[in-house]
Amino acid sequence: MEDFENWIEAGKIAKEALEYGKRLAKPGIKLLELAKEIEGKIKELGGRLAFPVNLSLNNIAAHSIPMSDDERVLEEDDILKIDVGVHINGCIGDTACTVGNNKKLIMASEDALTSAIEYVKRNADKIVLCEIGRIIQEKIQSYGFSPIRNLSGHSIDKYNLHSGLTIPNYDNGDTTSIEGDFVFAIEPFATDGKGIVKDGKYSGIYRLEEKRPTRNPIARKVLEHIEKEFNGLPFSKRWLLQFRGINFALNTLEKEGILHHYRELKEEGDGSVSQAEHTILIKDGKAIVTTS
Ligand code: CO
Repeated sequence: MEDFENWIEAGKIAKEALEYGKRLAKPGIKLLELAKEIEGKIKELGGRLAFPVNLSLNNIAAHSIPMSDDERVLEEDDILKIDVGVHINGCIGDTACTVGNNKKLIMASEDALTSAIEYVKRNADKIVLCEIGRIIQEKIQSYGFSPIRNLSGHSIDKYNLHSGLTIPNYDNGDTTSIEGDFVFAIEPFATDGKGIVKDGKYSGIYRLEEKRPTRNPIARKVLEHIEKEFNGLPFSKRWLLQFRGINFALNTLEKEGILHHYRELKEEGDGSVSQAEHTILIKDGKAIVTTS
């Protein structure tokens, strides 16, 4: 497999950065400070950010990040998902955990992930996608919760976080099997709500959607930076505050269809949500969990 060492190293840094974040994520810390600390740790360890550190609270399942003026502080009864992505030359490690007092909800997604990984290790030469989904669903339901059905794990390629395949969190009947060398993430979400997420507010997370020229000089300068710096991977508006007129530039690029602006994903029944995630590399019929 090409770049094997880079995939392994990216996973290792992601794991360490997540552990560091988990230790800091105590009531009283500002979400903005937590995000900056984790981002700093990734760089210190020699990695680059594959996407902004997602810090999603309570009924927000994913795609939530603190902006530069964010005053929110982690509260005693919050449930916080920390989702970290690291890359080395485009090879990505993607891993997440949940902190808070709702231990049963947190266990449900962790246990589902562990069981799914056991299945993958036993069947690394031929992994059936709906089997992963079935295992996750059964485990989460055994805790009395629901998996979130419209969130899923994903195959990963170089500089491509979601490279096409969906790794389901319920038995969706997809009997597609994975054979050969392959990288993917499994990420069960458990909730006491409806088990569906819908679009929430705009997040400040963007991704280059379609490379096209733009006429506005300010937007053009920002676009050049985005292409060079992020290589098609998601990024935070907070990383671009050195540019004058950044709001105008991002709005222009979004309107022109050049950038995709992610929305937060909110549990439809306003349930609490937990998440657990690891990246797995299949090589020569063996499964390696790069982020554990
Ligand atoms: Co992921």
